[in-house]
Amino acid sequence: MISTLLSPRYAIADFPKNFLWGAATAAHQVEGGNTQNDWYHWENSGGARDHSGLACDFWHRYSSDFDLARDLNMNAFRLSVEWSRIEPRPGEFDISVIETYRQILITARSKGLQTMVTLHHFTTPEWLASSGGWLSPAAIVRFKSFTDRVVLELGSEVDYWNTINEANVVALMGFVVGVSPPGLQDIKLGMRAYSNLIEAHAAAYRSIHAVFPNARVGIAHHMRVFEPARKNNIMDRTLARWVGNFWNKQFLEAIVTGEINLHIGPLFRVRKKVDGLKGSLDFLGINYYSRDKIRFKADEKVFFKIDTVPTGTPQNDLGWEIYPQGLVRVVNSVKKYGWPIYITENGAADRDDVVRPKFICDHLMALESSIESGADVRGYFHWSLSDNFEWSLGFAPRFGLYAMNYETQERTLRPSGQLYGEIARAGSARAVCGRSN
Ligand code: BGC
Repeated sequence: MISTLLSPRYAIADFPKNFLWGAATAAHQVEGGNTQNDWYHWENSGGARDHSGLACDFWHRYSSDFDLARDLNMNAFRLSVEWSRIEPRPGEFDISVIETYRQILITARSKGLQTMVTLHHFTTPEWLASSGGWLSPAAIVRFKSFTDRVVLELGSEVDYWNTINEANVVALMGFVVGVSPPGLQDIKLGMRAYSNLIEAHAAAYRSIHAVFPNARVGIAHHMRVFEPARKNNIMDRTLARWVGNFWNKQFLEAIVTGEINLHIGPLFRVRKKVDGLKGSLDFLGINYYSRDKIRFKADEKVFFKIDTVPTGTPQNDLGWEIYPQGLVRVVNSVKKYGWPIYITENGAADRDDVVRPKFICDHLMALESSIESGADVRGYFHWSLSDNFEWSLGFAPRFGLYAMNYETQERTLRPSGQLYGEIARAGSARAVCGRSN
C-alpha cells in the first residue's frame, strides 16, 4: 500500500528537524498489576467493563515495546509513573519500584527515545482517594511530596515532564459525570477538584524546577472544539462559548495570571490566587481528539447536551467525530501564549484500522499547515503504541498502532502504524500521504 522505500521527494522535511515523534501511554492502561490505586477499586466495584489485570504487561515488556516504537522511527516516548506503586502507603516509597522505573527510562533512552514522563495520569493511590482525594487540599501536599521524591530519584532520566494529564477530564469524569472514581455527580465538587489539581500542578512544577532549573515541564491539556449545534441559536452559541472558555482556556489563563478563575459563564465560579502558579509552564501539551456540538436544554443540570455525531460524518468506533481541522484550531488558539507546543495525545479507537490511516495523515497534515503558519509545534505523540485498557470501557476500544492480543500478549503492527512510521522517517506527512492539505 505505501512504499517502504524513501524516494528522493521524501527528503522534503515539513516538520522541524528535531521534531519529537512518539507514542503516548499511561501506567494503569499498559503496565498491568496495578492494585493499589482508586481505579483498581473502581474496577472491582463494577465501575469498568473489564479489570485492567495484566493489561499490556508493559511492566515486564517495556524493552520490546520500545523496540516496537523504534521500528516505527519514533524518537520519543510518553509514559506515566504510577504514584500508588511508588508510594504504596503515605510517606513510604518502594525502592524496587523506583528502580524498575529507572530501568525503564534508561532503556528508553538507550534505544534512542527521549522520555516524557507524566506524574499523574488519572490514577490516585487508594490511601489518598479514600481520605478525600482531590476534593481535599491535602492531595496537593501529598502530590508535591510524591513529586519531590520522583524528581530526586528519576529526574536525571527524564527529558520532559507532564505534571498532570487532563485535569479537566479528571474533574469531569470523576466528579460530574461519575464514570471514573470517585463516581460523584456534582458540578461544584468538580470545580473544587479541578482547582486542587491546578494547584497541584503548580506545586509539582516548582518542585521539579527546584532541583532541575532547566527542566521542561508542561501539562497534557485536553482541548476540544465546541460549536453551537444550531448556528443561529443564541443559547447554543452562548453555551458553546462558555463551555469552550471553561474547558480549553481557564487552566491556561490561571497559569498566566496566577489566579484560578473557573466558571461556566456566570455559573459555578471558583476563584483563588495561588502562590507559584503564575508562569508555571515551559511547554503546553495538547491532547486533541474531537469536536462537540453544544445544544441548549433547559432541563439538563448544565443547561446543555452534546449532540451525537450523525451517521455519515467521519467518526471512530466510539462515535467521536473525526475533525482534523480542529487540531489547527486548538493550536492556533494557544499561539498567543507563546509556549512551545507538543501534541501529547491524538488518536482514534478503530479496531479494524479503517479510519486510522486517513486520521493520521489528515491530522499530521493539519499540523504541518499550523507549523507553516507560525505555530511552534515541536512534537507529536500518537495515542497509543498498542491497544490498551481504556478506563471504564475496558479493553474494547482499540487505539493502538499495534493491535493487542490480550491472551497471548502478542502485538501486531497495523497498516496505520506502518504509515505513521513512514511519516516519522520522512519528517513529512504531505510527502508520504501523497497530497497537499
Ligand atoms: C486520556 C487517555 C485515554 C485517551 C482515549 C485521553 O483522554 O488521557 O488516558 O486513553 O484519551 O480516550
